[in-house]
Amino acid sequence: MRYNVAVIPGDGIGPEVIEESLLVLKKIGEIYNHEFNFQEVLAGGIAIDKTGEPLPKETIELCKSSDAVLLGAVGGPKWDGLSGEKRPEKALLGLRSALGLYANIRPAVLHRALKEASPLRSDIVGEGIDICVVRELIGGIYFGERGRSVKGKMGEAAYDTEAYSVGEVERIAKTAFQIARKRSKKVTNIDKANVLESSRLWRSVVEKVAKDYPDVVLEHMYVDNAAMQLIRNPQQFDVIVTTNMFGDILSDEASMITGSIGMLPSASLGEGSMGMYEPIHGSAPDIAGRNMANPIATILSSAMMLRLSLNLEEEAKTIEDAVTRVLEKDYRTSDIMNSGMKPVGTKEMGKLIVTELESL
Ligand code: NAD
Ligand code: IPM
Ligand code: MN
Repeated sequence: MRYNVAVIPGDGIGPEVIEESLLVLKKIGEIYNHEFNFQEVLAGGIAIDKTGEPLPKETIELCKSSDAVLLGAVGGPKWDGLSGEKRPEKALLGLRSALGLYANIRPAVLHRALKEASPLRSDIVGEGIDICVVRELIGGIYFGERGRSVKGKMGEAAYDTEAYSVGEVERIAKTAFQIARKRSKKVTNIDKANVLESSRLWRSVVEKVAKDYPDVVLEHMYVDNAAMQLIRNPQQFDVIVTTNMFGDILSDEASMITGSIGMLPSASLGEGSMGMYEPIHGSAPDIAGRNMANPIATILSSAMMLRLSLNLEEEAKTIEDAVTRVLEKDYRTSDIMNSGMKPVGTKEMGKLIVTELESL
């Protein structure tokens, strides 16, 4: 089969981690006889530099006509002075919205080999951590009304609005319950319903949707408590469903308890099979260009792409198994390094995973 994949390397470590993911995908193509038609497009800071805008129309068009999109990361200090609409991050938000990708799936899994890399005590980690964060992605405060006002209480003011409608909550809640059905059948809804009206509506809709999934247990938790519980007892979580903003923050926290943000992949999905796949981390300007970035989050994102958009389950599993084997052979990028382990850079880690695939 031939698959059209739009590739957005982006900025900072984006191109570095994408390069390794493409090598892995090419190897999978060779082994299983698939043709991946990778079409590279511009978005983010590099697009601003080359075209004057963060998300050129051609990029949106190509992504829309592709089977899936694979993205590295966008942003960096060079563009931090730009206004909201012109920033590299606007490319990401614009793409998610233009493609209708409302469900962001972020699996936080602690590999057995990485127990030592987790900052949590081994009695807390127990048999491992396997949490799936389901984050609403194209609503809430990220996309609400915002602006500036000269008449603030104490001078000029700025505001961002959190608003959710019933339909937006229903669809993300359904996604979470459907995922939970295939896992340990528990959904923890995380909100701030003790303070926010938008959270009270959110919670009531989640409860209504839950009635269609009587086999799944639903719990509610306030976001402040949840941030604490993720550290105190991560084992209690199976599927987390939450808003755009809370999901952004809690998934970075969840990533760290699995060893590093460099390990966490994500899938962004809408109604069809088309999806966008990216690591949850950013462009990491502090380590960019130094062959230090962990490419595993992006490589695992490409495995999610094979599974969820291209319907290639066996191929996805093959990549995940190759990653596990390389970790079990004690190879580590610096973010997951522990004493006695073998230090490798971005390129070496990518090559090791490709070599595992070759030795199938
Ligand atoms: P970041 O995720 O880029 O980096 C946070 C820390 O994690 C840094 O110390 C970094 O070195 C480390 N890190 C991140 N990915 C790593 C990897 N693969 N391997 C090893 N270490 C890794 O977050 P930030 O510093 O807050 O943001 C930097 C820029 O990236 C900003 O412009 C931000 O807006 C952007 N950003 C983009 C995305 C995206 O494109 N999806 C996501 C988050 C942040
Ligand atoms: C992420 C990032 C983005 C977000 C930014 C860069 C817009 O932090 O994908 O987690 O907040 O969604
Ligand atoms: Mn984030």
